[in-house]
Amino acid sequence: MTLEDFKLNTKEEFAKAKQRAVSDPDSFWGEIASTFVWKTPFEKVVQYDWNDSHSTEWFCGGKLNITESCLDRHVETHPDKLALIWEPNEPQDTAVKLTYKELLDAVCKFANGLNNLGVTKGDRVCIYLPMVPELTIAVLACARIGAIHSVVFAGFSASALAARIQDSSCSILITADGAFRGGKTVPLKDIADDALKSCDSIKKCIVLQHTFESISWNNRLDVWWHDFIDGLSTSCTPQVMDAEDKLFILYTSGSTGKPKGMVHTCGGYMVYTAYSFMNVFQYQQDDIYWCTADIGWITGHSYMVYGPLLVGATSVHFEGVPSYPNWNRFWEICEKYKVNQFYTAPTAIRALAKHPTTHVTNHDLSSLKVLGSVGEPINEEAWHWYDENVGKSKVPIVDTWWQTETGGILISSLAGVTDQKPTFATLPLPGIQAALVDDKANVLMDTKAEGILTINYPWPSIARTIWGDHKRYQEVYFSAFPGRYFPGDGASRDENGNYRITGRVDDVVIVSGHNLGTAPIENAINEHAEVVESAVVGYPHDIKGNALMAYVILYGTSENPEILIQEIRDLISKTIGPIAKPDRILIVSGLPKTRSGKIMRRILRKIASNEMDQLGDISTLLNPEIVDEIKKALS
Ligand code: WTA
Repeated sequence: MTLEDFKLNTKEEFAKAKQRAVSDPDSFWGEIASTFVWKTPFEKVVQYDWNDSHSTEWFCGGKLNITESCLDRHVETHPDKLALIWEPNEPQDTAVKLTYKELLDAVCKFANGLNNLGVTKGDRVCIYLPMVPELTIAVLACARIGAIHSVVFAGFSASALAARIQDSSCSILITADGAFRGGKTVPLKDIADDALKSCDSIKKCIVLQHTFESISWNNRLDVWWHDFIDGLSTSCTPQVMDAEDKLFILYTSGSTGKPKGMVHTCGGYMVYTAYSFMNVFQYQQDDIYWCTADIGWITGHSYMVYGPLLVGATSVHFEGVPSYPNWNRFWEICEKYKVNQFYTAPTAIRALAKHPTTHVTNHDLSSLKVLGSVGEPINEEAWHWYDENVGKSKVPIVDTWWQTETGGILISSLAGVTDQKPTFATLPLPGIQAALVDDKANVLMDTKAEGILTINYPWPSIARTIWGDHKRYQEVYFSAFPGRYFPGDGASRDENGNYRITGRVDDVVIVSGHNLGTAPIENAINEHAEVVESAVVGYPHDIKGNALMAYVILYGTSENPEILIQEIRDLISKTIGPIAKPDRILIVSGLPKTRSGKIMRRILRKIASNEMDQLGDISTLLNPEIVDEIKKALS
């Protein structure tokens, strides 16, 4: 049997798979898993305890190296098939195309370099690179030798990078001189140098020459990527990994200060990303698939690197942004490579929709077979714009709900196979046992219902823990509703069982598709010498989905509020990254609080959203008068 045999081509096959995944998960997943390359077959399909230890294990006893399923086995059957088409930031620059054979060779070379440095199984390697082919190569090279990769999005600041390196004590940093982002360059090496001042664990910094800008150099630490791989062999024996050995760490924001290093393991992640990729996108062997995400996020890990490679797909990777050199760029690329599956985020769709549709209609998009959406709820207007202008009302849209923690898509339609419904992610995939609960943990039994989304059975790619903090993992995901996984999202369900994700129910705000915890932003603001306290909330924004508003209390009165606000913005940029800068910062003399001293964020959210008539009863507040004052300051 091959993975293709598990492709769901009809609604009936989908229904049957769903039924079987529940009634007999062991044989359902066991058969799918057997289609991959294993060194030693697994003995037990799944073993879990979601009540006490909160542990989940899949494919127990199995030994493998994921890169053999991603690369070697395709090289045996079709070495010259393209694995990667890399489109650079500048449209006139040459694209890089890598066949499966070329990618394997490059991965092995780099892996040998890491081996020579003494990097071994279980060591952590931090990757802080722009969206270049070397990013994929570095990720897979780590997997080849069993090192745990921790990719940090290249938009993060020095202190955010440092915090992530420190948390998992990485011994190697892989970065570049700089990154191109549209018309700008970002001095990555400078940022990395700054971060490394507080990262003793790093023994070597491998630097890719990309923007050719001058950088400072530390002879003890730094080595050029091209020197590093010079003369190395293109074959590298894959490290034998246990199915439950760690494959990577990827940090995501939480409700409280510290980012959470979500840990994914080899076997289950492999099986689920491949299975979900093949079925959701209905990928066929000659298709060209393009996901516009960055490998710094989970979408890039699962559906730009691992999922597509496991299925033997050809993927487009794009270094740039949708607006550079102009708003044609996405459609130009779709036309240039005859893209069949296109996967992007609602924030990009909304930004594109603000510009004349001629940007879209000027291009031949007839190759498109599937359109995808990920990262946040897609609003009705954006859905229809995508459907009508890009898909010409003929191309199925998959609205895929999932998370860094879930490793793969949990709720989505299967393109052209199951029904779509605007703004609904629709049905859970086979093996995903979703349920809605109310805030008292009662399961909502009516099909049509609205509540909090939970999952009550493990799937192969669930994150196994938070790096170094299993207790936090237990608390965040399993304590709210004992025995169930709690993703932190609210959802409604229609009479046909379709799920619509309504948004976060915790203090995480999704801005332009990036998860931002409000607590770390508040911590950054509070670092300012003039600030006593602050509260950050999200409010609806027509392109970004949500924007941030910060309410700030000062010790005295500021002599120059404009400068102060700029300083606060810089501080946030420096500690987290430019993505976390609030759209609005309001200096206030107090914050609405309950009598027990808790900030009433709900009221602050309503004020920021200009829903002044929906503030509710404020008379029970400790300081109701502050609400009027804030309203006045805003108007
Ligand atoms: C949100 C991204 C509605 C959700 C893959 C989730 C979505 C968080 C959707 C995870 C969707 C993701 N519809 N909301 N299709 N996809 N989300 O970890 O709130 O960056 O919990 O993973 O994004 O974001 P993360």
